[in-house]
This record gives sequence, C-alpha cells and structure tokens, in this order.
Amino acid sequence: LLPLPVSPELLTLKQSLGNGNNNNPSSFPPNFLFGTASSAYQYEGGYLSDGKGLNNWDVYTHRPGKVIDGSNGDVAVDRYHRYLEDIDLMESLGVNSYRFSISWARILPSKPLNDRIFEGRFGYVNVAGIDFYNNLIDALLLKGIKPFVTLTHVDLPQEIEDRYGSWLSPESQLDFAYFADICFKSFGDRVKYWVTFNEPNFQVKFGYREGTFPPSRCSFPFGNCTSGDSEKEPFIAAHNIILSHAAAVHIYRSKYEAKQGGSIGIVINAAWFEPISSSMADKLVAERAQCFTTNWFLDPIVFGIYPPEMQSIFGSILPEFSKTEKEMLKKGLDFIGINHYSSYYVQDCMFTACEPGTRTSKTEGLWAQSYQKNGIPIGESTDVDWLYVYPGGMEKIITYVKKRFNNTPMIITENGYGEVTKANSTIEDSLQDVNRAKYMAGYLDSLSTAIRKGADVRGYFAWSLLDNFEWEYGFTRRFELHHVDFKTLKRTPKFSATWYKNFIAESKIPD
Ligand code: NOJ
Repeated sequence: LLPLPVSPELLTLKQSLGNGNNNNPSSFPPNFLFGTASSAYQYEGGYLSDGKGLNNWDVYTHRPGKVIDGSNGDVAVDRYHRYLEDIDLMESLGVNSYRFSISWARILPSKPLNDRIFEGRFGYVNVAGIDFYNNLIDALLLKGIKPFVTLTHVDLPQEIEDRYGSWLSPESQLDFAYFADICFKSFGDRVKYWVTFNEPNFQVKFGYREGTFPPSRCSFPFGNCTSGDSEKEPFIAAHNIILSHAAAVHIYRSKYEAKQGGSIGIVINAAWFEPISSSMADKLVAERAQCFTTNWFLDPIVFGIYPPEMQSIFGSILPEFSKTEKEMLKKGLDFIGINHYSSYYVQDCMFTACEPGTRTSKTEGLWAQSYQKNGIPIGESTDVDWLYVYPGGMEKIITYVKKRFNNTPMIITENGYGEVTKANSTIEDSLQDVNRAKYMAGYLDSLSTAIRKGADVRGYFAWSLLDNFEWEYGFTRRFELHHVDFKTLKRTPKFSATWYKNFIAESKIPD
C-alpha cells in the first residue's frame, strides 16, 4: 500500500480502533473469507469492447434524467482493462477472496446471426467475454484470492427486456438457466462460490415498484415515476427470479456440483428492522417488515413457500408455486448471502394511516399499511439518506436469519459506509475516512459476537474495493476503500484500506 498522509490524531484513533475485535482476536473460524465486493456494471466499463452486447443499464443510463449526475457505466472504473492493477491492491490488503459479477451481455451479446437464426437459447457465446473472466479468475488464483462469483448483479442483456419484458415473463427462467449453465461449464473448475442474484428484493422494489432501476416500472407514483403499471408486477418479477434461481441451482447440482465441488447461494439485502417498542404489536410489525423484504425470497428458496405473513396480507395477489416447483425450490441454496448496511425502526400502520393518500393502488395500500419505517434514526446518520450506523444490527440480523433458516451457512456479501461527494470536497477529505474504519470496526465486532454465539458465518466482504458507479446516484456516492479519481482513474488507498489490512492481519485466520 502507498504510505498515507496520516495526522497524529488519526494515528491515535487508529490505535484505539484496533482490529475491532480486541476481546477475542481468534473468533473468526478457519478458512473465513475476508474480501471486497464489486459488480460488473459498476466496475467494468468496456461497454462495447470485444463483442459485448448492450445491457439494460447501458440503455437506461443513456436516457436523459435517469442518473443524477448524468453519468453512466460506459467506462466505470475500467476494470475491463485494469483488473491486474486491482488485484495488486487486493494483494496488498491481504484479502483471500474477491466478489465480482459476470456481465451477462458480455457472455451472451444476443446478436442474432440473422433475423431468424439463433444459436442456443439466445444469440451466440462471445469467446472474448469468456476469455476476460478466465483471465480475471486465473490472475486472482495466482495471488491466492478465491473468486466469489455473482451470475447477475442487476444487469441483463437489453434484448431480454425488449423481447419479452425480462422478469415479467417465465421465459426469463430459461434464459437465466442457459446463461448459468455456460458460466458453470466455463468457470466452475476454478470458481467454488456461486451466487445467482444480488439483492433481488431491491431489484424488484426499484425496477417494478418505484421505477428507479430499469425497466423503470411503477406500481404507484414515486419520484418522477407516474405510470401506474400493474400492481402485481413486483410479485410476478420476484416469482420469476425465484424460479430462475431454482433452475440455475438445479443445473448446478445435477450437472456440476459433484465434479466441481462448489457451493451456490443467493444474496439478499437484509436490513434489520427494530420494533419501536417492546409491545407485541411492534414486535409483529418488525417481523412483517423482515418477511416483506428478506423472507419474501428466502422462505420460498428454503421452505418452498412464501412467508405466511405475506400470504395472509396479499392473498391471491401473490403468485403460486406448483407442486413440482415447490419441490424443486426447497433447500435451494448452500449459503445465504447477506448484504447488511443499516437498521430502521418500524411502525405498525395496519390500524393508523401512516402515509395517507400517497398510495393509489390497492396493493400499494397493503404494503404501506403492513409496516413503515419510522423516521427516528436508530443510530448515527450519515451523508447517505438510507444509512444509519447501528453496529448491533449486524448481530441481530445474523441471529434472526440463523434462527429462521436453521443456521444455514451465511456469508456477509456486502457491508460498507457511504459518503456523498460535496462540491468542495478534496481527495484528502476522502482519504482520511476514519468514519468508514469506525463503521467497519463496529460491524465486524458485532459479527464476531454473533459467530461466537454459534452463528455459522463463513465470510465478510467489504463494499467495496474501489469508488465506483453507484446506480442512479452515478459517481456522487463513495462507499469504498480506495479513492478513484474518475477523470484519470487513478486509485489511491484510503485510511480504511490500511485499517482493513491491519484488521485482517491481526485476525490471523488459520487456513
Ligand atoms: C448494495 C448493492 O448490491 C451495490 O450494488 C450498491 O452499490 C451498494 N449496495 C451500495 O449502495
């Protein structure tokens, strides 16, 4: 790592932060994964390089008004060309794993050979795309860094959207399974950790309820989204994503697992919802909030059914799984990936209209009445409107998931602290990110307590290695361990990078 200009106060603070785990330095189990996470659209760039096809985010970000600073991921942080440099940064951190996603449109560019002839399920396989990921995987392994691969982190070939509306059609299950099969076949000899989807609970919320992600559909007016698309759409999209997950897992287990010996899971955004009081009504509302976000996807994948709490509120609005689908779904993962950043107080709106008149459709009314975040901050506020610092939420969510899903192995696939770039902020401000180090120290401490109390957690990935493209916020939000100058793409380690490096070294994970 480059030496950082660290002030004496920072040095003192650094010492007092320690490794965040002072009481029990060896509470991380053997082979625990320590890594950083990333995603293809946010990092790669090279959006037209070497035969890549257009994906939904390429198209979406090129439409005016979709990203607040008018930016896009055409270049992003250019991982496509700079991955070796980034692997050196990872080596300096001492991480043993890297989470990245595959750009589906780079592997299957979906360019028909002619109007009628398609090879395979969709277009043809782009060998240059396969080569790129092979090179990335091999370079990681050479440095002892295990690839932890997400098949799709919210991007998909635009053609899938144009032809049949992507997740709104069951056809998406066939295309996703086909893509997954190609990835397992091409990379599975070296990749031992697979994730099917990243945060489908948010993908559905943003893409089909609030319209802030492609395909920009809304089931109620939100922000600049006025259209009233069918209120059932979020549920249909979720249903097809859940079945697509199951289809990919089925392929992995029947064709590859025995030979390749890896594991497969899904990543859910798992905020913690804290009841505002200890009353039974408030405990129930927190349970509903957890069901409507986390368990919406996890219950079907582990138990083959939607959460009973959702069924009783949404009734026939929730699609049904057939008997065969239920069987195929059950135990459909080897680990649960948890993206945990923040916690919220929640309140019961079943009997009091918390948000009168803003939800126009019946279904949105049901959502709104079932639970709502209470505006009272549960912890220190940050620049990022949805992020409160509440380290205890880590132990609470882990303990909750452990109990509900019978201590299925868990991996913290993302955790991190965000800042908003201010007009007058300098690179120095960004480099002295003591708040980020404090945040990580607190959350890792809470995680180690959960592990000590018996939770089967196998890894932790910081979001993220490098400043990158933060979806509809473009380049205005920085969550990361290395500063990136978005003009020159120069990477510079922040204080938090040094802190994380020390933390990993002091945690002395036995192999
Ligand atoms: C979770 C998402 O997976 C990631 O893409 C995003 O950048 C971070 N949260 C920070 O918002």
